[in-house]
Amino acid sequence: MVSLSADLSPLSPDRNLALELVRATEAAAIRAVPFIGRGAKEAADGAAVDAMRAFLGTVDFDGRVVIGEGEKDNAPMLFNGEHVGSGAGGPLCDIAVDPIDGTSLTAAGRQNALSVIAVSDRGTMLDASSVFYMDKLVTGPAGVGVVDIRLPVAENIKRLAGALGKPVEELVVSVLNRPRHEQLIQEIRDAGAGTRLMSDGDVAGGINAARHGARTDMCIGVGGSPEGIVTACAIKALGGHIQGRLWPRDDDERQRGIDAGLDMDKVYEADDLVSGNNTIFVATGVTDGQLVAGVRREGDYLYTESVVLRSASGTLRRVASEHLVSKWL
Ligand code: FBP
Repeated sequence: MVSLSADLSPLSPDRNLALELVRATEAAAIRAVPFIGRGAKEAADGAAVDAMRAFLGTVDFDGRVVIGEGEKDNAPMLFNGEHVGSGAGGPLCDIAVDPIDGTSLTAAGRQNALSVIAVSDRGTMLDASSVFYMDKLVTGPAGVGVVDIRLPVAENIKRLAGALGKPVEELVVSVLNRPRHEQLIQEIRDAGAGTRLMSDGDVAGGINAARHGARTDMCIGVGGSPEGIVTACAIKALGGHIQGRLWPRDDDERQRGIDAGLDMDKVYEADDLVSGNNTIFVATGVTDGQLVAGVRREGDYLYTESVVLRSASGTLRRVASEHLVSKWL
């Protein structure tokens, strides 16, 4: 059995699966272009799903979809449990796909929509799909061993500011702008920190909070559980902090989670969300954002920007590609 794990000696480098996967996120982002700002989020998502799946089929690996388009929607493609890849050998992996994180952003033509794939060794990714939401706390490396989701937000802000060596007033916390976060937003402001309210897209929000030199320091609050797992794959490579707690909306969902083996009271640490140290995270910008630029069309060319992160090597690569419009749209 071939696993994703690699001999990391510089003299025998691993085949970089990540660099093959970026073609699939590029394809999904490009196919979403005709739908940007057109108010049709399902159509945008459908086009991105088709493209991502087609390109995944060309990559020599056996990826079991742990986080996909969802079994509940009876998604015809990239559903949880589906196997993707060429089937022609290659590593056995778990894969999380989000052909567009930010379908509403895409439909509205707003910033920060990404096409995302995360991969880890087979059996290492938590399947949290039975509970839609997760409460999350993400920071960069300075937060490791410093912040904790169980603490009041004001305390985490104070501790992180101390670890970063800056006044609380300079700390910026990103949160999804939702009615459920009204009190949280107030608590952040009362603690003296600033807020960046995101209309959608907390994968980008989490990664931006973890990157050195970024404009936000912490990303907190309740967003999608799948997005939490995907973010954890990226955080492992960036060396930051992530914790998550499942956030069932009602008793039925709580029970479904318990039946699926999830613990509603547990604080899931990075290693619980995705275990091991061999994760890959690939994202291509659909629309412009802090992390990557969105797809840009100029004359006969389409330009894409992607990031490729590997926890095993601790690298963040930026991939800028030019594509002939005539081959695509
Ligand atoms: P979609 O791309 O599926 O629309 O998800 C966007 C998103 O903002 C995620 O980034 C986030 O985790 C989740 O939705 C939040 O869910 P909700 O909009 O229900 O608060």
